[in-house]
Amino acid sequence: MQKEGFESSWEVLEQELANLDRTVRALDALDDDAKKIAVEVKETLEAFHGKVLRQVIVCLRDTPHGEVLRETLLQDPFVVTGLSIYGLLQPTQSQKIVTLLEYIRPQLRLQGGDVEILALDGDTLTLQTTGSLSGCGGAEIQKEIVEVLHDQVDTHLRVVFEDQADLDAPKGAPIVLGKFQEIAQLGDLPDSKPIPITVGSERLILVKLGDQVSCFKDSCAHQGLPLDTADVCDQVITCRWHGFRFDAISGEGLSIPGVDLEKVPVQVRSGAVMVRKI
Ligand code: FES
Repeated sequence: MQKEGFESSWEVLEQELANLDRTVRALDALDDDAKKIAVEVKETLEAFHGKVLRQVIVCLRDTPHGEVLRETLLQDPFVVTGLSIYGLLQPTQSQKIVTLLEYIRPQLRLQGGDVEILALDGDTLTLQTTGSLSGCGGAEIQKEIVEVLHDQVDTHLRVVFEDQADLDAPKGAPIVLGKFQEIAQLGDLPDSKPIPITVGSERLILVKLGDQVSCFKDSCAHQGLPLDTADVCDQVITCRWHGFRFDAISGEGLSIPGVDLEKVPVQVRSGAVMVRKI
């Protein structure tokens, strides 16, 4: 479908990406020296394009009506895909919900239950639960799903469940979603530096600023590279890879608005640092 005012469309994009794939695959036929040069050229061009796009986004941020221009540009499939490739586009609310539900789904299925999105209308999300998540028996886990959605997506999201009971579904032990787990003692953590930790299979970083601790996914919002070597100074995290800056407490992107770190809930209870695991 072609949008008015743009020459590109998703069909054209698909075709172009297929051409690009073919060209990249052709590199395999080159000898090692030629391949090395080709990869260097590709990386140099990518770095150049990344800088250009970043400048454009910063300019839009600082320009009156920049937000309107940005929204218009985001109707173009090439712009959306290009910004996503360079890590300059934050996932939408619905993408975040889908990703989160995919993440917790294996735990739900293990317990004989499941959840599907029926509708997202403004701030109201309607979910359909099945199996052990349905009816009164599923109330506890439904409550936990809501908490996780509020923590990870939006505190204002209104979540409505529509049950589809399946009485034959197996019942297992209660599911523990999103419980806080003790990670360290506050007094043992160094100040103002990223502290890498692993919770479950998730790599995270803690940042302690005095009595306050923040926790983020160990993945820079720019290109997803690790943050464990980042600098922390004056309440700002600076990624060492390309210099993107983030607020060390909220994770908010300071280099590009909306390009934020993914926050993980953390608490300090009686000197113990507790991280919420999903
Ligand atoms: S990965 Fe590029 S600034 Fe962090």
